[in-house]
Amino acid sequence: MTRQKILITRAIQSDLLLRLQQHFDVTDNQPDAEWDAAELQRRLKGQAGAYMTGIERVDAALLAQCPQLRICANMTVGYNNFDLAAMSAAGVLGTNAPDVLTESTADFGMALLLATARRMAEGERYLRAGHWQRWRYDLFAGAEVHGSTLGIIGMGRIGQAIARRAALGFGMQIVYCNRSRLDASVEAQWNARYLDKQALLACADHVLLVLPYTPQSHHTIGVAELACMKPTATLINIARGGIVDDAALAQALREHRIAAAGLDVFEGEPAVHPDLLSVPNVVLTPHIASATTGTRHAMATLAVDNLIAYLNEGRALTPLNLADLQRP
Ligand code: DGY
Repeated sequence: MTRQKILITRAIQSDLLLRLQQHFDVTDNQPDAEWDAAELQRRLKGQAGAYMTGIERVDAALLAQCPQLRICANMTVGYNNFDLAAMSAAGVLGTNAPDVLTESTADFGMALLLATARRMAEGERYLRAGHWQRWRYDLFAGAEVHGSTLGIIGMGRIGQAIARRAALGFGMQIVYCNRSRLDASVEAQWNARYLDKQALLACADHVLLVLPYTPQSHHTIGVAELACMKPTATLINIARGGIVDDAALAQALREHRIAAAGLDVFEGEPAVHPDLLSVPNVVLTPHIASATTGTRHAMATLAVDNLIAYLNEGRALTPLNLADLQRP
């Protein structure tokens, strides 16, 4: 019996590669070569499934060239690389990897908030550069985290896991805005107050972004929103590039219109806006919020499980568009 063909677009953990090879005729990319859209299209032709990493654009033009394709399995929770309407019309299932990364990503959100508010990166650069000659009472004095007000924009699973840490561990007051208001019982757990974006920005000491990227959430934070924030506030983005207008943010940081920012994601990453690289009051990390060895393995495992379950048995663990799928 001929085995179904799948494409793995990037390097993958070796045990998971082996598992996929037990089920499918696999084309891998263990050298982790960079493929442009044309190369992805060329390699995806004739494949029944694809393991993806959240950055490979899957749209109508690509799907038109890949009539055999039945599933694209992201190993990320974010799926803004998928045009789900086009995929549904082409009968292609999209899956993502929710839940398994929630706690590690929430840990990182708190870590980035702490590093930013407490100016850890600035202090480290200063020390490494040999500038530290003596203690001073105001050396890298930052903003208080415990007892302060945290504004969370995007109160899904990760937002709630951060709220739990912030409220229970740091005694923070939680305000949030979200597409829909949470149940009163959930709000009560963290004593969280639902506000509109403007009210949240005006009262939060720290603003943390953890919402999905969609055309509607593009530049959720731009010039006008930065102007609403306290001059002592910090802004943390662990969501997606494009949710913040990075040029406007760099200018606000340079002019000290807000105190500091912590960014794990960037518009057009891996490129970083050059103005962000030259302002001192920003902590920059290379999209690693979910990057623990165990969590990245769990995310990849979920994508692998989705491919095996769907191509072998017609079911998926975390489908995104099963109900809308046009069956050929
Ligand atoms: C996700 O899972 O969406 C994270 O941002 C990792 O890319």
